[in-house]
Amino acid sequence: MAERVLVAVAWPYVNGLPHLGHIAGNSLPADIFARFNRLIGNDVLMVSGSDMHGTPTMLAARQQGVSTLELVQRYHNAFAETNRQMGFSFDLYTHTDTDNHHAVSQAMFTRLLENGYLVEGVQSMPFCLEEQRFLSDRFVEGVCPHCGFDGAGGDQCDNCGNTIDPAELGNIRCKEDGSTPEFRDTIHFFLRLSAFQDRLTEWISGKDDWRPNVRNFSMGILKQGLKDRAITRDIDWGIKIPVNGFEDKRIYVWFEAVIGYLSASIEWAKNSGNPDAWKAWWEEEDARPIYFQGKDNIPFHTIIWPAMLMGHGGLNLPEDVAANEFLTLEGRPLSTSSGWAVWLPDFLERYDPDPLRYYLTSIMPETSDSDFTWNGFLLANNNELVATFGNLIHRVLTLTTRNFDNAVPEPGDPGPEENAALEACDTALTDVARHLAARNFREGLRAVMVLAQHGNRYIDGRAPWKQIKEDREAAATTLWTALNIVETLRTVAYPYLPFSTQTLHELLGHDGDVLSSGWQRQTPDPGTALPDPTPIFKKLDESIVEEESERLAAASARRRNQT
Ligand code: MF3
Ligand code: ZN
Repeated sequence: MAERVLVAVAWPYVNGLPHLGHIAGNSLPADIFARFNRLIGNDVLMVSGSDMHGTPTMLAARQQGVSTLELVQRYHNAFAETNRQMGFSFDLYTHTDTDNHHAVSQAMFTRLLENGYLVEGVQSMPFCLEEQRFLSDRFVEGVCPHCGFDGAGGDQCDNCGNTIDPAELGNIRCKEDGSTPEFRDTIHFFLRLSAFQDRLTEWISGKDDWRPNVRNFSMGILKQGLKDRAITRDIDWGIKIPVNGFEDKRIYVWFEAVIGYLSASIEWAKNSGNPDAWKAWWEEEDARPIYFQGKDNIPFHTIIWPAMLMGHGGLNLPEDVAANEFLTLEGRPLSTSSGWAVWLPDFLERYDPDPLRYYLTSIMPETSDSDFTWNGFLLANNNELVATFGNLIHRVLTLTTRNFDNAVPEPGDPGPEENAALEACDTALTDVARHLAARNFREGLRAVMVLAQHGNRYIDGRAPWKQIKEDREAAATTLWTALNIVETLRTVAYPYLPFSTQTLHELLGHDGDVLSSGWQRQTPDPGTALPDPTPIFKKLDESIVEEESERLAAASARRRNQT
């Protein structure tokens, strides 16, 4: 029976262009997982969108001297375009400023209020005397009480991922003018997290299969004891509070952004022509909601969103929260503000998406931080994709089409080497599936490459370019066997390399797309017509390493001079 899998991808703040950090931890693993599940026949709903509200976008708009609306629309378009170019197969990529999202968020607010989980209270908030206004969230910065990082915001620390109460920040200052704010009381709605302490503890205790970093981090928060949190703000950008007397305030960005998973599913269902279709992923208990994000998002997905779902009732809790660690770039943290980043719109003007998908997966920060280097990208492309994966495919297809009239040859009897090669295909199908199902994407990719290596060894041992001169039938057997490996590589690599495997699918003489072949070893059918092959990957020149390092240094120097 097909399972229903909800692939819920974190919603990026659209306060700048998309860069490597946005995809390494979120959308890339999510897309690999979604593609794998579709290929094995599951019903996947993959949703996300741009996080438009809150102080991150307000601040960026003020810095750039444009309206917040103009800024978020510009960057939303950039994210949507990058998603398309990277091949991220969202069923819907929307944003948080749709009428639908406003309505679903307000309905959730009202429901939690009616159920007694939202209450009014007094919150002491930093107030800027220079500007005569409250400073929410990122409008202040200071020293994180948890990790000591000097640059934490009033609501969360990007460095250690903890949520923060602004009163706890050391050396608190106004982000824009540097002045020391005064604390003043203001009325807000609070989410009664304390009411969920026991239920959340029991729920997470049962999650033995979560990544240890996610589980331990969340258990740590629970051990400290949950405190109620203000979920409204004194700002004028965001979703209105559906209660009289609160016209000047807005819902806190994190409270409504997580609701995006639900509102996007509802929007997708409306678009699909069956407005109730979302319920199969949210209300039916055997559906499997899997969330993808970076480690700075963990408490919002393991504590706050589950508490909201429990308070609402009738909606599925996450099955897994697959949070990644951070990606660094040439040894330094990626940072929009200091210009230390590889911007995807720029990258994709010079390079293809699949080599990036490949390299980023091979270094995916699943269990510890990892580093993107241009030299690493060059080597992964040239030594692995081109020399191992691409070379096998190109050799097999060229030898076959040239010597057997552009058609799959009829094999003779298999020997032990042939049987071992076919077994390697079945092993790869089993291993890659196991790793992907467990969301161990690096391991899965390694298992793909093990099969490619087996193929190269097999071909080198058999040397069909010699066999063809001496024993045509033996050459046919070799190439037919090797074509099994190529067919299988097409299948197991599809979640990782959607563009190249589609080309390969066509080079193997198949119609339609890879999805139609399913997760199986498709036996090459003798006589199938094969087009003339073209290489599916391009070798990169070594000079890119220096060129790109210079480009990076120049961009970050420009940034320094501006500020
Ligand atoms: N906008 C947040 C960030 O970039 C992530 C929000 S994930 C959500 O860190 F699903 F809650 F929206
Ligand atoms: Zn911190």
